[in-house]
This record gives sequence, C-alpha cells and structure tokens, in this order.
Amino acid sequence: MDTNGILEKRQLPDEEFVALWDAIILDPSIKDRLLGQAILNYTMRSKVNRAAVPLHGVILLVGQPGTGKTSLARALAAQTSRLVRTANQFLFVEVEPHALASSALGRSQKAVTELLGGTIAEIAAVQPCIVLLDEVETLAADRSKLSLEANPIDVHRATDAVLAQLDQLAGRYPNLLFLATSNFPEAIDGAFLSRADLVVTLDLPTPEACYAILADTLRAMGQAFPKLDKLAKASTLNEAAQKCVGLDGRRIRKLVAAACTFDREVAIDPNRLTMAHIMRAIEHEQQELHKAKGNHQ
Ligand SMILES: Nc1ncnc2c1ncn2[C@@H]1O[C@H](COP(=O)(O)OP(=O)(O)OP(=O)(O)O)[C@@H](O)[C@H]1O
Ligand SMILES: [Mg+2]
Repeated sequence: MDTNGILEKRQLPDEEFVALWDAIILDPSIKDRLLGQAILNYTMRSKVNRAAVPLHGVILLVGQPGTGKTSLARALAAQTSRLVRTANQFLFVEVEPHALASSALGRSQKAVTELLGGTIAEIAAVQPCIVLLDEVETLAADRSKLSLEANPIDVHRATDAVLAQLDQLAGRYPNLLFLATSNFPEAIDGAFLSRADLVVTLDLPTPEACYAILADTLRAMGQAFPKLDKLAKASTLNEAAQKCVGLDGRRIRKLVAAACTFDREVAIDPNRLTMAHIMRAIEHEQQELHKAKGNHQ
C-alpha cells in the first residue's frame, strides 16, 4: 500500500473486475440502474449547470456484510469504463479508509485533504477516474452521533474535510466518480448521504439468487473437481437453495467449500461431495446465524 491512503490502482477495464459483474447475482434492474447512473456521470455532468443539477459523482452501495457491495463496485467500475467513450483510459483507485482515519490529532483531516485534494485531483486532471471508498462510514462518520469525549475533534474535522473535498472535486472534475460502500448507513454523515447521486441497498439473496450462487460456486469448484459440476445441475439443488434463505452471498459461497470438511474422505477428494453434505453445511450456517442473532438481542 502507498503511504498516502491508496490501497491499489488499476487501469480499467480489468479482466478480474469485469468477471465480477456476472459473479454477483442480483436483480438485473439494480445492476442496470447502477450502470445507468455511472454512465450518466460521464455523459451529463460536464454539460449541465451544477447549480441546477447538483450531481456530485457519488454512488453509495449499502447492505449487510457479504452482500457483494465491494465486488459490485469493482465490477461497476470496469463495466462503466467499457461503455463510456473517452480519449484517455480509465483509472481505478481504491482508498484505504483506515489509513486515513488516524487517531493522531490533526492527521486524518490532513490525510483526507492530501488524498482527495492532492492525489485524486491530480489523477482526475489527466484521466477519467473511479474511486472506491470502501467502508465510507469510517471516512464520513455521522458528526451528530459522535461524542466529543469518545472521538477526538479530528474525526469531526475529517468528515468536514471529506465533504469540502467532494464539493471541490465535483465542481472541477466531472470525469471523477466515487463508488462508496457501507455496512452501517446509519453511521454515515447526513451531508454525505445527501451528496450521493444514487443510494442502492443490496438485500440478502432471494431463493432464486441463492440457487444461482450455489450453482455458480459448484461450477467453479467443478473446474478442478468435475463431479461437482453434476451437483450444480442436480434437481435437489433447489431444495438446498430454499434452505439458504437468510444467508448472505459470501456465506453461501463459503458453505459449499465448508461442506467438504464434514467428512475426511471428501476433504481428501472433493469429487465425493454429495448434496447431503451441502445440506448439512447449510444447517450448520443457519444455526450459527441464529446464535449470532441471539447474542445481538
Ligand atoms: N449476490 C451475490 N451473488 C454472488 N456472490 C455474492 C453475492 N453477494 C456476495 N457474494 C460473494 O461474497 C463474497 C464477498 O463479497 P463482497 O466482499 O463484495 O461483499 P461486501 O458486501 O463488500 O461485504 P463486506 O460488507 O463484509 O465488506 C464475494 O466472493 C462475492 O462473490
Ligand atoms: Mg466490502
């Protein structure tokens, strides 16, 4: 990682990110809306009066952990770069939020200003740029909920700095788009939410999505262990999918691998995996989820 708060940079479109677009299984209308908004950022923002159409170039994805926000943001960046015609290549930049949220007094405000007003502005001056602000609640914490005792004044100032920089950048660089994600929308400052051009909530997968995620995971494992490809087509997969409802996409993908761990023989040769093992892994996950919910009440 760079010392300046950037986790990574990639030229777009990037093959790995492009593949994520299909891997994240969601209502297609949600994907269309996101892509439409991202494209509009590049077709409209430079041409309209900001006072009349106050677009900031910010799209926010919210949802529970494991619902695909980060993956979808990366995929959206790649798809946008494929569909928008520009003279220069798109650059993807991922910000490391925790590197900026330093507790040392005065540092995070300075770090935010340097990153957004310095590094990001310099990139946006020469090429179209899409910036991922993952876990944005750490960067734009709700000032009304921060107690001054528990949070140094610097945290408040960091939010102020983010908002000020967003306003500056929005005015100067219409070829800059921020994709922000959060598990805790209630912890994000209202002024940041107000600047978002589109807020989309990713829900837990529907039964149909659970089916598609199970099948996709089995097919991916089937490239190495061909018998798993047959399980992806089994009629009993539908029943397994129904039982997954309530689990997030990450849990569902992981439980297919976890199903190989109940029986040593299957761990040694994953081709021996059966639907019964998968059912057992689903039950295990549902029980764990139930316990976790109990602990939170
Ligand atoms: N709807 C979905 N369809 C297919 N796969 C999914 C879905 N949701 C999550 N996944 C898978 O779960 C994994 C985690 O996804 P991702 O990191 O994007 O989630 P997230 O919402 O950003 O989670 P967190 O809030 O914990 O950061 C990825 O491997 C992704 O493919
Ligand atoms: Mg994430």
